[in-house]
Amino acid sequence: MRSAYLHHETPTKPSSEVIIDLEARPSNWEVAPGRTVAAWTYNGQVPGPTIEAEVGDTVVVRLTNSLDEPTTIHWHGIRLPAAMDGTQVVQPLVQPGEMFEYRFTVPDAGTFWYHSHHNETVQMERGLYGALVVRDAGEVKVDRERLLMLDDMKLRRNGDFAKFGSWIEEHTGREGDVRLVNGKSEPTLDVAAGQVERWRVINASSARYVLLSIGGQEFFIVGTGGGLIEERVPVREVLLVPGDRADIVVGPFVEGAELFVNAMPYNRHTGKPKVERFATVRVGARRESVAVIPDRMRSIEPLAAPDATPNRVVTMSERLSLRRGTDFMINGEMHHNDKPVMVGELQIWDVVNASHMDHPFHLHGFFFQVLNVNGVAPAYRAWQDTVNVPPKGRVRIAWMPDDRPGFWMYHCHILEHHAGGMMANFAVVRPGEELMANGMTAHSWHA
Ligand code: C2O
Ligand code: CU
Repeated sequence: MRSAYLHHETPTKPSSEVIIDLEARPSNWEVAPGRTVAAWTYNGQVPGPTIEAEVGDTVVVRLTNSLDEPTTIHWHGIRLPAAMDGTQVVQPLVQPGEMFEYRFTVPDAGTFWYHSHHNETVQMERGLYGALVVRDAGEVKVDRERLLMLDDMKLRRNGDFAKFGSWIEEHTGREGDVRLVNGKSEPTLDVAAGQVERWRVINASSARYVLLSIGGQEFFIVGTGGGLIEERVPVREVLLVPGDRADIVVGPFVEGAELFVNAMPYNRHTGKPKVERFATVRVGARRESVAVIPDRMRSIEPLAAPDATPNRVVTMSERLSLRRGTDFMINGEMHHNDKPVMVGELQIWDVVNASHMDHPFHLHGFFFQVLNVNGVAPAYRAWQDTVNVPPKGRVRIAWMPDDRPGFWMYHCHILEHHAGGMMANFAVVRPGEELMANGMTAHSWHA
């Protein structure tokens, strides 16, 4: 994952096909020396292979299912046609022994990822995820680029996965104490002193919120889930909720230093937060830097005024259930069917959290801009597909349904909450084609 990233000057090559075979299969995966888990993998590795493409390329993924249960793949953050989105509403489950071909063009540069979209609480926890990196000509110039895919696994002492689906786990989401970066438990990252690196950080955890710190040092946010932001933002911490990504520029570091990449305490109202380590940065001998981060990286036009009037309210809530412990709901219903959305009609949604804990809201297939959180405009403008909604809070988002009709989905990205009902399907329809969409019945919505 190192030097191939370094010198991507100005790719002018014509768009091409990026073809990759992914086999979902059980495989023993070593998370630490001598510690192997019975993982489910793409091509025998956790994470699965990193797919790299340039804007305009066509990505072709031939998925073979060698698991004992059905699966699908969702391309998190990619603005693709509905039919390629990987949900059960748009494709049949890929049964054991079957193949399915995903084919779509990647229109945006950024840090994306792919993951199973069936029985996710088990399939993703066991390792069925990977990164999808899309580049274009306007990238920042750094000395080195790295991908950090964060995850946690809940294992027993003997290395097996702890039993799935306890009452508490279904309520708060599954967190494990084996913290992984790129499939390895608390690795050491060797960095050269004096260098500036771009880290593409992806939170692939089932439920863990990661308030990322690098030894308390300052670093810069340069991108979010929807690619670069306008200007870099200096911070000492960045919050990555499940499903989310942050592109950060780190360094230069001082020779001989050792810093911890930690998740700082973040209270999502499910228990007492503490400092937890993901990795160690070890700074070696000094090297010259050629990095150039322009003052202005991109322009992002605002979709709407910060106080624009919402045309839809999406309420996330929970209630006690005798059957399951907790029901998770959208607009008062588990596995909700929301109203259709019209192509070309600006959407202003108030996403309301009526519950007592945080929920990461994820919209499939489209980027949104956050207009305000509890009435307060965000510190910088960005394209996103995932946003945290604080307890008893309200996040106003704006998004534009472009001409990609079909069935789409939004949900809480805490996998147990999604499975427990905090999700909705809805149609994007072309004007004049409403009846067709309404006439379609939702089969197998649930999952
Ligand atoms: Cu990464 Cu339906 O989600
Ligand atoms: Cu949730």
